[in-house]
Amino acid sequence: MSLLIQHGELVTASSRQFADIYVEDEVITRIGSNLAAPPDTEVIDARGKLIFPGFIDPHVHIYLPFMSTFAKDTHETASVAALIGGTTTFIEMCCPSRHDDALEGYHLWKEKAAGSSACDYAFHMSVTHFDDSTEAQLRHIVADGTSSFKVFLAYKNFFGVDDAEMYQTLTLARKLGVITTAHCENAELVSRLQSAFLAQGKTGPEWHEPSRPETVEAEGTNRFATFLETTGAQGYVVHLSCQPALAVAARAKGRGVRLSIESVLPHFLLDKSLAEQPGAEGLKYIMSPPLRDRRNHDALWSGLASGLIDTVGTDHCPFDVEQKKLGADNFTNIPNGIPGIEDRVNLMFAQGVTAGKIDIHRFVDALSTRPAQLFGLYPRKGAIAVGSDADLVIFDPMYRGKVSAAIQNTNNDYNGFEGFSLKGRPSVVTVRGKVQVRDGAFIGEKGRGRFLAREPVGADHDA
Ligand code: URP
Ligand code: ZN
Ligand code: ZN
Repeated sequence: MSLLIQHGELVTASSRQFADIYVEDEVITRIGSNLAAPPDTEVIDARGKLIFPGFIDPHVHIYLPFMSTFAKDTHETASVAALIGGTTTFIEMCCPSRHDDALEGYHLWKEKAAGSSACDYAFHMSVTHFDDSTEAQLRHIVADGTSSFKVFLAYKNFFGVDDAEMYQTLTLARKLGVITTAHCENAELVSRLQSAFLAQGKTGPEWHEPSRPETVEAEGTNRFATFLETTGAQGYVVHLSCQPALAVAARAKGRGVRLSIESVLPHFLLDKSLAEQPGAEGLKYIMSPPLRDRRNHDALWSGLASGLIDTVGTDHCPFDVEQKKLGADNFTNIPNGIPGIEDRVNLMFAQGVTAGKIDIHRFVDALSTRPAQLFGLYPRKGAIAVGSDADLVIFDPMYRGKVSAAIQNTNNDYNGFEGFSLKGRPSVVTVRGKVQVRDGAFIGEKGRGRFLAREPVGADHDA
């Protein structure tokens, strides 16, 4: 069935206009004034609403064996939560450990998602070791449509790679035209600091941030940028959390290194004092890089406003309170992660756009269009244009509410953003022309989501 959305105000990364949108066979086929509705067309009146291109979360963890446990969401729960929050596509980190076979890991992650996601999805392929079979395996994975890699400079002996492995990954990525995303913290320094604090009896969650200080993240960011500069590869720093790392990344961008920057929802809105709370409360706020001192917030918001920070993701990674308690006596055992897939769009709108910290077009750009462009999804996703997939968010800017774990769809027993005010939320969300969400409720088809095969975006790849 076709769909006509009338009288809405279309807001993209670069334009704003009142227009109707007509959708046939999953894609937008017409945009214009007073479009007629042929018989059997589903009509939505979007008067008073903003219409955004479906939002893309470029960094989520759904299936994740990590720190002796598993992240809590399934593809079903995470995708429903994503859609209710206006995210119509996510890119999941496929994360086999250093001891696993990469190709087996890739097939496992694809199987977990297949038929279970209500929204479209893709993967970044983590390269957690580099041996004689790795190049052939990665070529196979890229040919299958997963055209972005991930390296962890942190998590020694689990996901982490050494400099030689990072060099080999980036050299291959450059050849294939594949972008490489990176978690930038110096693993050796983290491990030394952790041991030193534990030896002094400093075991609580308040020691997590001091064990991974801003300097340690700046070093990782600088090293990644230097490796990009040397290999000519294209890179993307994930979850950049603080001013010193931003300064290093800005300098690299300034001298022409092909580097993009992502910061994630928790680092804009939360700070390290939350992890310093006693009892189980502090455990809930452990992620890496850690929540930082509040003075970093201004640097992140102004970096986002200017476009120095390209994208906003979530690093969605839910562990419940029982799981967090695995590290109650030793902060190095607290499963790292804070969920946010359901809250990113609404909170960045309320705390960013409505609060006057970022322009509405930058908001659309950072949460939809830039991720699509950087990861080979544009203009299929990230745009409202004839020929684009009809992934649309009809957003009610007059809605008022609060974030609350009691009503969330993410599979977790707390929400790190509990009590934050919402000033607007999606009232209708479509995935390729099908209404999946209406007024905060999922009303759609659970298995609708498709794996998105992506071409490498690198201009000069020679395969
Ligand atoms: O704390 C985090 N960020 N958990 C997920 C794994 C990662 O480093 O992205
Ligand atoms: Zn990470
Ligand atoms: Zn992550």
